Amino acid sequence: MPNIANYVFNNVSAQLTPLEAFLDPFTHAELDEIGVGAGWTCLDLGAGGGSITNRLCELVGPDGRVTAVDQDTHMLTPQPNVDIHTQDMSKDEPLPVAGPFELIHARLLTHHLPNRRELVHRLAGTLKPGGWLLLGEFVLSEPYVVTAPTEKDAGLFRRVLAALYEVGRRHGVHQEWGNEIHATMLDAGLTSVRTRWHSEAWTGGEAGSRLLSNNVSQKREQIIETGISGDEVDTFTEVLMRDPRMVTRSHLFCSIRGRRSA
Ligand SMILES: C[S@@+](CC[C@H](N)C(=O)[O-])C[C@H]1O[C@@H](n2cnc3c(N)ncnc32)[C@H](O)[C@@H]1O
Repeated sequence: MPNIANYVFNNVSAQLTPLEAFLDPFTHAELDEIGVGAGWTCLDLGAGGGSITNRLCELVGPDGRVTAVDQDTHMLTPQPNVDIHTQDMSKDEPLPVAGPFELIHARLLTHHLPNRRELVHRLAGTLKPGGWLLLGEFVLSEPYVVTAPTEKDAGLFRRVLAALYEVGRRHGVHQEWGNEIHATMLDAGLTSVRTRWHSEAWTGGEAGSRLLSNNVSQKREQIIETGISGDEVDTFTEVLMRDPRMVTRSHLFCSIRGRRSA
């Protein structure tokens, strides 16, 4: 599987499909409010499974253009109005297309990047006058169990989630970065800056729990290194995350948008 940027996960549909099921409604609402329309020029950074790239292609139509960038582009679908580029955004290289763009979108990308703050400034300067920057990130929240078959199950959920977050931290994921984006957009001179947070309950067997199960499976060895046993990891992925009696609070997603002055 290509992964040229030492990204913490591998792009697989078992991860990206449930992720998109959780997040796409929030992002679609933002795109509708922004008014992305026919003929727009858009950039989707860290495009992943391509659900938002595809949405943008529909919205801009044949007279518009979408550029999709990811360090691993194997899940992106070629279309007449999309240009797909493989690029490691942690390197301060020029964007594959100079712009300017009417919309730049990046969801769950910048918290992986050491150059995240500079990138926001750079992207702000790549917008057309009146153009929008829309970013989305998970921000750290306390693992929370709504209801579980037993208190032991609830405790195991909290320990495995804490271990998953620790593995992310060790890998350089900036888990508080989402809370700093609003101020960073203001510093970058953007206007109409607005942040929304989203969270919901995730039930065992449903999309969110499948996402957690995949994330934990991908990081199994590193989670065991933090002190969780292999049997406990298996109970988490094979039992708890499939049990409809297990209901937990989702990751906390924040969506931040800002606009370059017209
Ligand atoms: C959690 S996925 C999100 C995918 C998509 N944006 C979404 O929200 O559905 C993170 C994406 O960022 C990409 N990514 C991570 N680090 C990157 C880097 N340094 N350069 C380019 N893409 C990167 C990954 O390959 C992956 O597709």
